[in-house]
Amino acid sequence: MYELKEQYLTGMETIDDQHRKIFQLADQVYELLKDENMLYKDGELLKIVQELQDYTKYHFTEEEIYMEKIGYSRLEEQKIQHEKFIEELDKLNQAVQQISLRNQDQVIFKLLDYLTYWLKVHIEKFDMLIKKEI
Ligand SMILES: [Fe+2]
Repeated sequence: MYELKEQYLTGMETIDDQHRKIFQLADQVYELLKDENMLYKDGELLKIVQELQDYTKYHFTEEEIYMEKIGYSRLEEQKIQHEKFIEELDKLNQAVQQISLRNQDQVIFKLLDYLTYWLKVHIEKFDMLIKKEI
């Protein structure tokens, strides 16, 4: 369900590949939410959240280096948004560590909701602006 479609392509292959990976991780969260055979989802969820944390940190650094290189005019705005995303994932990581059977779907939904917002707003709107400055 989550995949990198045309409207998300910046035209910068490395960045697009990294965004694709984030979409794949979002898709794993979605699959986990749908999985009705798994009772305790916390272990799996924590693994995905940690991978998301590691991968997005790596990606943001790479993206910022690239933006710096091309003299992208809205770099500061990007840095703030990236910082916020990292903070949000930290909070979600803590929520996962305190998860119970009663609220686990709620926490997964919250994570998915935030990721969807991120992909739609940050990548589709903000990262796309790089295109104009290449
Ligand atoms: Fe970005």
